[in-house]
Amino acid sequence: MRSRHHQHDVLIIGSGAAGLTLALSLAEKAQVAVLSKGALNEGSTWFAQGGIAAVLDDNDTTEAHVADTLNAGAGLCHEDSVRFTVERGKAAIQWLIDQGVSFTKLQDGSSSDYHLTQEGGHTHRRIIHSADATGKAVHSTLIDRVNANANLDVFEHHIAVDLITQPDTSTGKVRCSGAYVYNRQQDCVDVFQAKAVILATGGASKVYLYSSNPDSASGDGIAMAWRAGCRIANMEFNQFHPTCLYHPKAGSFLVTEALRGEGAHLKLPNGERFMDRFDSRGELAPRDIVARAIDHEMKRLGSDCLYLDISHKPADFISEHFPTVKARCLDFGIDITRQAIPVVPAAHYTCGGVVVNNYGQTDLDQLYAIGETSFTGLHGANRMASNSLLECIVYAQSAAEHIRANLDAIPSPSPAKPWDSTRVTNSDEDVVISHNWDELRRFMWDYVGIVRTRKRLERATHRIKLLQKEIQEYYSNYQVGNDLIELRNLAMVAELIIRSAMQRRESRGLHYSLDYPDTSSVARDTILVPTNFAGQEIFVRS
Ligand code: FAD
Ligand code: SIN
Repeated sequence: MRSRHHQHDVLIIGSGAAGLTLALSLAEKAQVAVLSKGALNEGSTWFAQGGIAAVLDDNDTTEAHVADTLNAGAGLCHEDSVRFTVERGKAAIQWLIDQGVSFTKLQDGSSSDYHLTQEGGHTHRRIIHSADATGKAVHSTLIDRVNANANLDVFEHHIAVDLITQPDTSTGKVRCSGAYVYNRQQDCVDVFQAKAVILATGGASKVYLYSSNPDSASGDGIAMAWRAGCRIANMEFNQFHPTCLYHPKAGSFLVTEALRGEGAHLKLPNGERFMDRFDSRGELAPRDIVARAIDHEMKRLGSDCLYLDISHKPADFISEHFPTVKARCLDFGIDITRQAIPVVPAAHYTCGGVVVNNYGQTDLDQLYAIGETSFTGLHGANRMASNSLLECIVYAQSAAEHIRANLDAIPSPSPAKPWDSTRVTNSDEDVVISHNWDELRRFMWDYVGIVRTRKRLERATHRIKLLQKEIQEYYSNYQVGNDLIELRNLAMVAELIIRSAMQRRESRGLHYSLDYPDTSSVARDTILVPTNFAGQEIFVRS
């Protein structure tokens, strides 16, 4: 099939909460292309459960939300980014309501106010939600709006392989002008070009064997940005969610933290509660502390899982607030109104990512990054629950503001060369891909997981070098396809995580090292700079 060349004002790579918010915010001003690896609803957004954090209650304050975020982030959040996000929270929620998102309301019949739940690290009830399927409510609404908008060209089953960079004749600098994109249905690589390109590709938690994330979370945006010359920060802080359902047939299913917010207890196999031994906030301590406590107790007891128990609450309350969790657990014979839920931690969220400023601008001219793929400084060493969807909406809107203000002045890029596949052949050894994929995710789990040591990280460094070499050889010789593109990116991101973890000689937030158990008095980001760094003259975030 012959490759095609597409030209738009704006190219958005990714169709989660971040990508679709940006698309809708630009639709009146620009001709926009939105790419999605699979169907539009593939991505983490669809699966979000607990809700979105924002200061919506009269008794809550911006200062309290800022303080809780800084506290959960273990001294590494950038306070300017935290304030930037929190101050825009209420307007972001209003925008979602205006789009038609239906959030759960109070049940007292007398008020139109929304029900706010609580999660770890929050000192107030401030999580607006749609029962326990907030992501589906948000994403389906945004998808409907996007599908109804004639200015938005949607390309499902299109996976970006690499960014296109070229000299900008007006500035003399290198700029991003598009992406090479594998068209999965036509089995060819198309060229997409635009004045502004946005990475909204989500996180990288699939780099771990056990993850709450969908398969799409292979860190593509982070890997593409790194290869194109952008700095990547704080990749050692991969968040492990404390409570994913433990059942041999469950795959990855999250049991929302909102259960603990509404009073669920974590228990050992003998029914004893244990969180108070680890933190005075008990079950509502920030996630890094709860996940580490569970990991510790599982290892101490040699237990395959621990338990989350909400059965002491009225059955009607449980059914009303947690219909998704209840139904999924029932699929496996667990009635959460009467029984405790077996749970284990799993990789959940990438706190690090592509370094950006408050408009989502990266080091490379005309390249933006928003949502989980970016590093805004909001999350520090540990993201507080439900701050992620908020970040997606807030930064998508600020990127839109910047793009709207500058689009007319940006020259259209000159046409890029088509993808060259003359020197590659079809692979007859796909087993190499599946083997490397499994090996990578297993050693990342074993050597770069919740508790780390220098020796394990050295082992991981050795493994990743060998894998990178093999994958690069394979990539140079064979036609690209979905699995190869993702494996190449996963390996790149794994390398960045391991390098970042090696550089951090302390324990802080989500990075816990037995060799360096103390927290340094000075909090520093880990910023990796590529050899082809694109941004010397653009901006520096320290
Ligand atoms: P995603 O929603 O992951 O979307 C990424 C998009 O990029 C997808 O469309 C994908 O197809 C596309 N893509 C990726 N690579 C490519 C490529 N190479 N080419 C083309 N397209 C590509 N956060 C909260 O704040 N509250 C919650 O309650 C909450 N619950 C969660 C529950 C679960 C089970 C999970 C997994 C996460 C949860 N999170 C929650 C985190 C939050 O959902 C995510 O951080 C957020 O949705 C990320 O949105 P995004 O738009 O950045 O990326
Ligand atoms: C959850 O519902 O527990 C997930 C919330 C989040 O990841 O922010």
